Amino acid sequence: MPSLEEEISSRRTFAIISHPDAGKTTLTEKLLLYTGTIQSAGSVKGKASAKHAVSDWMDIEKARGISVTSSVLQFTYEGHCVNILDTPGHQDFSEDTYRTLMAADSAVMVIDGAKGVEAQTVKLFKVCALRGIPIFTFVNKLDHETRDPFELMEEIENVLGIGTYPMNWPIGNGRTFRGVFDRASRHVLAFEGDGRANATKRVAEVEAELGDAALDELIGEENHRTLMDDIELLDGADHEFDLEAVRTGKLTPVFFGSALTNFGVEPFLRDFLRLSPAPGPHTDSLTGDPVEATDPDFSGFVFKIQANMDKNHRDRIAFLRICSGKFVRGMDAFHVQGDRKIKLATGTAMMADDRATVDEACAGDIVGLFDPGIFSIGDTLCKVGRRVQFAGIPTFAPEHFARIEQVDTLKRKQFVKGMEELAQEGAIQIFREYGAGMERVIVGVVGTLQFEVLEQRLKSEYHVEVYRSPLPYNLIRWIDEKDGEVDMRSLNLTRETLRVEDMRGGKLLLFTSPWNLNWAEEHNPDLHLSEFGNVTF
Ligand code: G4P
Repeated sequence: MPSLEEEISSRRTFAIISHPDAGKTTLTEKLLLYTGTIQSAGSVKGKASAKHAVSDWMDIEKARGISVTSSVLQFTYEGHCVNILDTPGHQDFSEDTYRTLMAADSAVMVIDGAKGVEAQTVKLFKVCALRGIPIFTFVNKLDHETRDPFELMEEIENVLGIGTYPMNWPIGNGRTFRGVFDRASRHVLAFEGDGRANATKRVAEVEAELGDAALDELIGEENHRTLMDDIELLDGADHEFDLEAVRTGKLTPVFFGSALTNFGVEPFLRDFLRLSPAPGPHTDSLTGDPVEATDPDFSGFVFKIQANMDKNHRDRIAFLRICSGKFVRGMDAFHVQGDRKIKLATGTAMMADDRATVDEACAGDIVGLFDPGIFSIGDTLCKVGRRVQFAGIPTFAPEHFARIEQVDTLKRKQFVKGMEELAQEGAIQIFREYGAGMERVIVGVVGTLQFEVLEQRLKSEYHVEVYRSPLPYNLIRWIDEKDGEVDMRSLNLTRETLRVEDMRGGKLLLFTSPWNLNWAEEHNPDLHLSEFGNVTF
């Protein structure tokens, strides 16, 4: 039996971040295939997969065939226990996608080699950067024509502001693509793909020195020449590989490959497991002291709440990231924000869309807890007799705004109750115009599907029908009042800028364009604006 410390140090808990269609699902699937977790492609949330049917807890899901909330996949590989936190990225992109990143110890950023750094990647990257977690880059779709690798690296550095270190380097491009050169072993990994997405085929690793005539045959004379020039340039210009910089999120190791054809996936996985961190300490915000993952006393925080999995019950599932010690189903724990002892009735691990009950889990793992409505996002649970409190989950900037009003004005009470409860659960964010009451309520969401979820839930759970009028705003900023209170009325703003307040009395501004945001910053030199609300770390 491995010790608790061994169990924890074998954990790797990460999220994959990418823009839709960059290849996140394909890469996840290939990781699971390599590790023997699944036997056939198409099992992981594949668009054509019938697995969606399992989570039919909401009509929208059924109608659209997408999963509204994200899940966790766990597998073991070469002595590691790996947790992949799924971050929904298509239509179901929501605040939960961001919140999930709060539970990850590292991130894998998948970039489409032909497209480079895209909008959603930037947004997700910012959240990872806020926490300073290590980020590993997988440049995907090398079997197709891609952009110049030097240009891609420069784009990552300039757009995201993180240093890059290529772990391998592509040879050729598009039709001339022959493989990658592994910089540490100085070996060529030859691409034998024929374009088919063969699930289990492994690629050949060929020992060949740069300059060796045999390489001409393998990768072509011209490719060989270019590769030698590229590597000389990289070796000359590049800094040394710096693990500390990787661990603090300042440098991203970059891998080139093709998830569809399996090329470069396995070497990536091996290096990722070698370089990525096991669960580390989390700071107790009450004392400022670190709580080590290997601390035998159980602790964790709720990062996501998923409502009404089962339509017949009003229960919710609270997703808990275990920060230290061990979880045992049925154990007693102290709910810090509720200031009371509770029994952790159900532990649920997520494997694709199937729910399975877990009896034990340790630091680094995610468990779904039965929640009768007592938890809020960011709450801490710990061993009875101890009191630690982890920093809450920040509030992320919504990008879509609408005014929501109830159709039947007599249902005012249910409407307000529903809106407040759903906002408190984290399904939506609500704001009111500065100085106005709840009659001028504005809802902000990260992904537009959240509006539909809101309407559906108000109708089915609170029996309230609503009108939704879209608003032209798409940018929101929290006003930082750390250096003193800001007088909202005296701010010099454009006419298109709206002053609002959130539920906690936080002050915010809504903008219709970056131009209006720049105006506000330029004309109010003392104004400090933040993309994240309630950041305490
Ligand atoms: P996502 O989860 O990031 O949204 O991307 P996903 O894996 O679903 O991939 C998006 C599309 O890109 C899919 O094609 C997928 O087959 C393709 N793809 C992923 N990795 C590679 C790669 O390494 N090379 C190439 N050439 N294509 C890749 P699709 O036609 O949209 O879907 P499907 O019908 O193939 O599932």
